[in-house]
Amino acid sequence: MVWICPICELGLDRNTQGWSCVNQHSFDEAKEGYVNLLPAHQKRSKNPGDNLKMVQGRRTIHDSQLYQPLAEVLSSIVKQYADSSALLDIGCGEGYYGGFIARTVPTVTLYGIDIAKSAVKLAAKTYCDQHFAVAGARRLPVATSTIDLAMCIFSPSTDSEVARVLRSGGHYLEVGPAPSHLWELKTALYDQPHEHKALRRAVSGSTLTQEGEVNYEKQLNNAQLRALIDATPFAFRGHREKRAQLREQASVTLTMSFSWRLFTQMKQPTTV
Ligand SMILES: C[S@@+](CC[C@H](N)C(=O)[O-])C[C@H]1O[C@@H](n2cnc3c(N)ncnc32)[C@H](O)[C@@H]1O
Ligand SMILES: [Zn+2]
Repeated sequence: MVWICPICELGLDRNTQGWSCVNQHSFDEAKEGYVNLLPAHQKRSKNPGDNLKMVQGRRTIHDSQLYQPLAEVLSSIVKQYADSSALLDIGCGEGYYGGFIARTVPTVTLYGIDIAKSAVKLAAKTYCDQHFAVAGARRLPVATSTIDLAMCIFSPSTDSEVARVLRSGGHYLEVGPAPSHLWELKTALYDQPHEHKALRRAVSGSTLTQEGEVNYEKQLNNAQLRALIDATPFAFRGHREKRAQLREQASVTLTMSFSWRLFTQMKQPTTV
């Protein structure tokens, strides 16, 4: 098991109630099967991360297969570089990508962390054979050099922590929106819409091994459109009236456009 104690950083062992380290720090396992490894003093707010409405919105759009072409590409990358491996999904949300990958590459062992408890709860409830913890990306409760591939999909990550948990030669997969992603929503909401910034092409201590884009169009009905707005910062950005009008549209065709970069860790860092 890769989980470590968020207080003393020693390995956690499973017992009847949950998880504990040799220093008797113990963490209950929730009935859904996840463990909360985010101590109160590491929280910056009462309920950090995405709220329940965003989590549910994301689940609805994932159920409607809006992001499936992206999930298929990510799965093929994992198959090529890291089958039979330990995968860490940082900022896993309600678990969609990890769930898709574990179903299509069943030899992987998947660990997911997210700072939002409601997201982890839903992920653990849905994907019972994976391992989930509530935790922040700044201090991963993951043992050093235990992960073969860490992925970060539209989520924040901390390079030094990714480097620490990856084994030497391990991979880091970063995925984000390409410049024109959801352009139709932006033009509907803003007077002067801006394209997304391009994903970075360098990570210290790693080499860029492969990169790519995924582009397609998708038609959404009104329920899917509303769920997408709820799941994204569009829920509270842009013109309020324009947003209200957009929410009433019967359907919309959207540009779905993503960039991904696969980095390979060159050597294990000497400092932890
Ligand atoms: C845009 S969502 C993406 C979720 C998932 N990767 C997906 O694509 O479906 C960003 C996620 O990052 C989580 N998050 C935000 N800040 C975080 C942090 N400091 N540590 C871990 N997770 C964080 C949020 O709670 C949210 O679930
Ligand atoms: Zn401990």
